[in-house]
Amino acid sequence: MARYAQIVGWGMYVPSEILTNDDLSSMVDTSDDWIRARTGIVERRIAAPKETTATMAIRAAQAALRVANVNPARLDLIIVATATPDYPFPATACLVQDALGATRAGAFDLSAGCTGFVYGLAVGSQMIISGAYDQVLVIGAETLSRIVNWTDRNTCVLFGDGAGAVLLQASAVPGGVLSTVLGSDGSGGDLLMLPAGGSRHPASAETVAQGLHYIQMNGREIFRFATRVMAKAARQALAEANVDLEDISLFISHQANGRIIQSAAKSLKLPPEKVFVNLDRYGNTSSASVPIALCEAIEQGRVKRDDHLVIVGFGAGLTWAAVVVKWGMPLPVPQPPRWTVVWRLARYRLAAVRSYLRRLGRRILSALTGLFVRNNGSG
Ligand code: UT7
Repeated sequence: MARYAQIVGWGMYVPSEILTNDDLSSMVDTSDDWIRARTGIVERRIAAPKETTATMAIRAAQAALRVANVNPARLDLIIVATATPDYPFPATACLVQDALGATRAGAFDLSAGCTGFVYGLAVGSQMIISGAYDQVLVIGAETLSRIVNWTDRNTCVLFGDGAGAVLLQASAVPGGVLSTVLGSDGSGGDLLMLPAGGSRHPASAETVAQGLHYIQMNGREIFRFATRVMAKAARQALAEANVDLEDISLFISHQANGRIIQSAAKSLKLPPEKVFVNLDRYGNTSSASVPIALCEAIEQGRVKRDDHLVIVGFGAGLTWAAVVVKWGMPLPVPQPPRWTVVWRLARYRLAAVRSYLRRLGRRILSALTGLFVRNNGSG
């Protein structure tokens, strides 16, 4: 029997602190007019000191599981697309797995810059279509405010923090993720990078003094690259899905710059009502921008059952990707009974207790082993 990967849950989380263009104009030599005209961004969200990529990813994941009414213990795989993980390792996806109590799930981070979430959709859906897995959680989450140089006006006006998630589920109903196109061009890797902190330039007092732990970007070149690949990738994905451009209900792309989105829409001859834009409120949240946009499009009633969506991303690598989705879920989703909400919260508490007990158990075992070795040694 044919298998399809349907999006059955979605959720987002953005921090409450808002940083406006006017706020930025008191920090660097810029203006609200310049930022609006050149990017379309009006404000962005900034993570609170205690918030991290993992904490935001967990909130978005919990929201997606709530919509889908799926127990985290049934998840097979968790993919977190991010350029700003909590640590180089362990993977942020493992922190999410632990907090959700997703005891059966594999978990890994995916690094494809701002394209990461769309890459994740491709990987997750293929895992389902192949028959390997039934439930895959794909998350895009970023805390870009921690790697932005707040004295560099070329970059600091662009980025924001947040997270979005979708749950992909195996289904016999035709639709869901119909096609996926992935692309890369490593020759452009230096156009958008975080130079230090890896094996090439390990973090040191010198790398910090040189500001190599901040995002470095050639904005003009990235702009050119983005306008070149977006429409092309969308067309390829449509051709693979055997869907005509006219049958597209909504174009959801990476939210980096309003002019880039307009240029792709123009090239695809899409009217404004078929193009989703929310970067005015969040700025560029890298791999979180597409799932956040998808969530808001659903909330705004712009997605209906049997609609065809084209989802396109581009970013560091260089990378790009496009996915065509035939929406399979009836909307709006009915509210779950109150008791399921209470049960769900209790389950997350239990996951925290389970995590604590496993750490404690490990510590006790290690202490007992140490004692045993010492006793044996002295005996
Ligand atoms: O997620 C993927 C990652 N990034 C992107 O997608 C970004 C892609 N690139 C862009 O969105 C645009 O290239 C930017 C918004 C970054 C820049 O817009 P632009 O129209 O390409 O401006 P520009 O780099 O050509 O700079 C024009 C001028 C320069 O001054 P001069 O050299 O002409 O005197 C800049 O120094 O604007 C100046 N400028 C600013 N002025 C006020 C650059 N940043 C600012 C600023 N405020 N924040």
